[in-house]
Amino acid sequence: MSTQQEHFSSRLGFILAAAGSAVGIGNLVGFPVNAAKNGGGAFLLVYALFVFIICLPVMIAEMAVGRKTEKQPVGAYKSLSNNSRLWGAAGFIGVLTPFMIAVFYMVITVWLFGYIALTVTGNLDYLASAQGFGEFINSPYLFGAMIVVAAIVNFILVAGVKDGIEKAAKVLMPALFVMLILMVVFVLTLDNAMAGVKFFIIPDFSKLTPSVVNGALSQAFFSLSLGMGILITYGSYINRQTNITNSAKLVAITDTGVAFTAGLMILPAVFSFDPAVNPENLSDSSVSLIFTFLPKIFLALQASLGYVGASVIATFFFLLVFFAAITSLVSIIEVPVSYLITEKQNTRKKALSTLLITGGILTVFATLSFGMVTFFTEFTTYAGGTKSFFDVVYDIFYDTILPLNGFLLCVFVSYRWKKHNLSAELAVGNENYVGSWVEKYVNFSLGTFIPFIVLCIFLNTVAQKFFAYSLFGF
Ligand code: PHE
Repeated sequence: MSTQQEHFSSRLGFILAAAGSAVGIGNLVGFPVNAAKNGGGAFLLVYALFVFIICLPVMIAEMAVGRKTEKQPVGAYKSLSNNSRLWGAAGFIGVLTPFMIAVFYMVITVWLFGYIALTVTGNLDYLASAQGFGEFINSPYLFGAMIVVAAIVNFILVAGVKDGIEKAAKVLMPALFVMLILMVVFVLTLDNAMAGVKFFIIPDFSKLTPSVVNGALSQAFFSLSLGMGILITYGSYINRQTNITNSAKLVAITDTGVAFTAGLMILPAVFSFDPAVNPENLSDSSVSLIFTFLPKIFLALQASLGYVGASVIATFFFLLVFFAAITSLVSIIEVPVSYLITEKQNTRKKALSTLLITGGILTVFATLSFGMVTFFTEFTTYAGGTKSFFDVVYDIFYDTILPLNGFLLCVFVSYRWKKHNLSAELAVGNENYVGSWVEKYVNFSLGTFIPFIVLCIFLNTVAQKFFAYSLFGF
């Protein structure tokens, strides 16, 4: 059975869908905390530089490979390399990565859903209590929430690219922007809010150590959904009138803009809760910030807003993050969906049910990793620590493999597909591309320093994560 390739209906639809993928928990929570801990404005500057100097060319290349081949990573790498087995295998990593990321991202999205349900029903005080989160992540109700989230994802994806992904992005993204702005306006009226803004923006260059710079690049890479096969797959749905370079710029600007705005929400809230807080002591993980620290901040609002008012704000916040998470989850599951449709001739419906069942089983394992089942909780050990099933999936597929996928893409585009073919594809929809300085920069950077840098980051992360050894002294 041959399936007609689907397309986004417009450039705006594509940009919103890609931005929907890029804007996620990383922007709303990960970025503000990273920035506050690591030099405020100095971090912002380095981050913005990395977005445009290193990430943007990779993003453009992913979209171009997708549009040229109208395929997901496996099909794309194969068709541009004369069916090379080796590149097919690289493409396969590009499909496996999003499938596995979906597993742990699903766990977090299910938690967010649970938090919405609990705050709506008046249980904010429970979530803010010392035992709240620990009990919550071991609650059997989570499996019910998992079914609801899977049903939402299925509802969006089964409708296809134009009527599912694009439509959802057109509703959820504007809603997210409005909610974010409303939250910022509200938070800025709280006492001591300005202390948080200052901490976020005023640069402290002494904090910029090599490991902070490394962290900024990793954060930018994953915030833009690079190395996950997503932009290749979404690229395969772009029509041939679309100007890829401009669209990619808009996606990068939107993603960075949301991350920056989220900083104006999170840090003032943290400072208004505790003016003496030292952001360096904030936990490293977005998870503990969202699920244990923020509920306390929301509960403290009851002094001025009453319990109901505080609960409304909390629900509103978790809904905002939930919207961001759903559009990311949808994008990441679409990669293996598209693989099963184009490589294995599945219908969209069948591909989705296969993935929701297999992914669902792994998600159950990951959910059981927080104490419910010892086998999954103490799954293995490396780098001197016991790791749960969830930790393993997170460490391999989220924290480590993305730069490797980025490296493979740069090498593939520059030395296998070849730069003149990339230029020819990018000139479609952008007649001024060939000969422009953007072309020169993209071609030069993708063939030289970008793959070198992302390879170093990959090797350093493997050494650190799995062997507790630092290759470059950071
Ligand atoms: N860019 C997303 C974020 O910032 C990361 C992501 C995208 C995660 C897609 C999963 C799926 O959170």
